[in-house]
Amino acid sequence: MKPSIQKFINTPLKIGNRVIPGRLILAPMAGLTHVAYRELLESYGGCSLMFTEMCSARSVPQENRYVSPVFRWRDEELPHLVCQIFGADPEIMATAAKRVEAEGFFGVDLNFGCSVAAICKKNCGAALLKTPDLAEKMVRDVRKAVSIPLSVKFRTGWEDRPDLPVELARRFESAGADALIFHPRVAPDRRTRPPKWAYIRHVKQAVSIPVFGNGEVFTPEDCEKMIETTGCDGISLGRIAIAKPWVFSQWRTGHAVEMEIYRKNMKQIFFLLNKHYEPIPAIRKFKKMAIYNASVFQFGHSFLKKITRAGDFSEIESAIDAFFDHSPALSARPNLNLFR
Ligand SMILES: Cc1cc2nc3c(=O)[nH]c(=O)nc-3n(C[C@H](O)[C@H](O)[C@H](O)COP(=O)(O)O)c2cc1C
Repeated sequence: MKPSIQKFINTPLKIGNRVIPGRLILAPMAGLTHVAYRELLESYGGCSLMFTEMCSARSVPQENRYVSPVFRWRDEELPHLVCQIFGADPEIMATAAKRVEAEGFFGVDLNFGCSVAAICKKNCGAALLKTPDLAEKMVRDVRKAVSIPLSVKFRTGWEDRPDLPVELARRFESAGADALIFHPRVAPDRRTRPPKWAYIRHVKQAVSIPVFGNGEVFTPEDCEKMIETTGCDGISLGRIAIAKPWVFSQWRTGHAVEMEIYRKNMKQIFFLLNKHYEPIPAIRKFKKMAIYNASVFQFGHSFLKKITRAGDFSEIESAIDAFFDHSPALSARPNLNLFR
C-alpha cells in the first residue's frame, strides 16, 4: 500500500461528537458480525469501528442481551461498537435507538440497505429508499431521540441512477445523520453485478459529513483505488473481514502474516462460537463463516464441501487439519462463486 494511503487510513476521524482512530471499519453482516466474530477480530488488533448484526427495532427495547442471538455484546467492546437497527416505523426506531444509547454503544446505525425479501416485505431495510420522506423522517426522529453518533447505511436505491443516492445522502445529512455508509448497488441486486464506485464519489461530493465507501474492497490495491477515485472518508469492509479478520491491522501496519494464521483462525472462531452460543447454533454459524474462510483458497470449494458435511467439531477439526497440512495455495482475490 502507498505510504500516503497507509497514513490516511491511520488518521482519526470525527463522527458526530466522537472520534474514531482510523478509516477502516467493519460492515454489519447478519449471521457473521456476531459477538464471537468480534472477539476474534479484536484478538488481531480490531478495527476503527465495529458493527453488530442488524437488530430488529421492535425487539431491541425489551431484548435480553444474554439470550438474544444478535443484540449481544461484551462490555469492553461498547466504546467502539455500533448497533445497527432495522424497522419500518420512525417511532419504534427512535425507541430502539434510546435503548442502544442507554446501553453505552458508540453509536446507532440505521439499516436502509438490506434487500432480502423478508425484510423489504415489511417495509424495512432498502424498501425505505422507495419512500424517501419516510426514510428522512426516521433519521430525524432518531436524531431527536439520541445524542450518540447516528449513521445510515444505504444503497443506490431501486433504480440505477446516480442522482438517487445523492438526493438520499443530502436528505439524511439534513435530517441529522453524522455519517453515511454507502454501498453503490441497486436494491434488487444482491451482490451479483459489481458495485459502482463512481457513485460513492458523487455522494461524497454532495455532503459534508463523513462518507464510508463499501463494496468489493478485497485487497490493499482495492482499498487504495476506492480512496483515490472516490475521495471517501473511510472504507467499510464486509466479507473480506470474515475471511481474514486480521485484514484491518495488516493494512494499517503493512505487516505480512504467516500461512499458519488461517488454520489457527478457523479453530479459534469455533472455540469462540462455542463460548458464546449453544453447540447447534455454534456449528451452524461456523459453517456460514467457513464459506468466507474457504473462498480465499484456490481449492476452497472442495474444502468447504468437507466442512459442510462435518457433523461435529472433531470432524470439522480433521477437515481443517487435512486441508492445511497440504499447504493450500491462496487466491489473489476471493472466489465470488462461493462468496455471494
Ligand atoms: C451474509 C451477509 C449479511 C449481511 N447483512 C447485512 C446487515 O445485516 N446489514 C447491512 O447493512 N448490510 C448487510 N450486508 C451487506 C454488507 O454490510 C456489505 O454492504 C456487503 O457485503 C458489501 O460489502 P463487501 O463487498 O465488503 O462484502 C450483509 C452482507 C452479507 C454477505
